Order: sequence, then C-alpha cells, then structure tokens
Amino acid sequence: MARLEYSKKVLEHFTNPRNVGEMKDADSVGTVGNPVCGDMMELSIKVTDDRIADIRFRTFGCASAIATTSMLTEIVKGKTLKEAEELKWDDVVSNLDGLPPVKVHCSLLAVEGLKIALYNYYKKRGIDRPDLAPKETEAEHVHSDEGPSCV
Ligand code: FES
Repeated sequence: MARLEYSKKVLEHFTNPRNVGEMKDADSVGTVGNPVCGDMMELSIKVTDDRIADIRFRTFGCASAIATTSMLTEIVKGKTLKEAEELKWDDVVSNLDGLPPVKVHCSLLAVEGLKIALYNYYKKRGIDRPDLAPKETEAEHVHSDEGPSCV
C-alpha cells in the first residue's frame, strides 16, 4: 500500500486541532456520518448578529477529518452565516496545502457538518433552506470517485 503524504499544515492541525469539544450552549449542531468509512462528525455553532461567534467540533474520524475540520473552524469563526454557507471543500483543502486524493472526501464531511448545523439553525427559526439540507450520498459519491480506499 502506498504511503500517504500529508502537508505540514495537515499534520499540524491533526496533532494540534483547534476548537475541539462540546458546546453546551450551542445555537445549532450538525452531525454527519460517512456510510463508507464510518467516520462521524459533529459541529456546533454559536451565532451572534448573524455571525459565527464560536464553533466547536467532535469527531470519530481519521487524521484528515480532524485536520480539515480544525481548519474549517478557523476559517469560519467570525464569518457571517452567508459567508460560511459559501465555504467549499476545496477552500478548506487549499488552506491545508492539499490532501492526498483518497482523503479528499474527509474535507467534504467537515463542510457537510457545517452546512447541516446552518440548516438546523435556520430551521429552528422557521426558515427552510433546502440547499443546506443533509445530502445522504455526497460523501459516499466522493469515495467512489476517488476509489474504494478509505484508510
Ligand atoms: Fe476520513 Fe473517510 S472521512 S477516512
């Protein structure tokens, strides 16, 4: 099996992840799981004046899932909800100086968790945002694009 090469930033965020933990007074929580590898992600947000005032995550996942979610929390903290909604998985990956192709799906798990947290936030306020709704097969789809490996 080929050895995975990680950037210094990925290794740094994996060994020293930012914004880890539970948020007791969260305004919203998003949880998502990858049906192929079994990784789980939970993202909690605190919203003030339409901005993400605080964000925390917990994961049962791989090094890339930890690193990408750590980076995602740094990117979106202080951003408006609209700016956070527009975040794409490749924004997170480029901020980490890349991921090995078979690990790209891990960044999708982080972004999907954030979108679900935002979806739940709006839903609590009676606002329907189907564009942010959980996508059952997206993580699985990326797995199949990148090959069956999920290690
Ligand atoms: Fe990291 Fe699948 S999400 S191995």
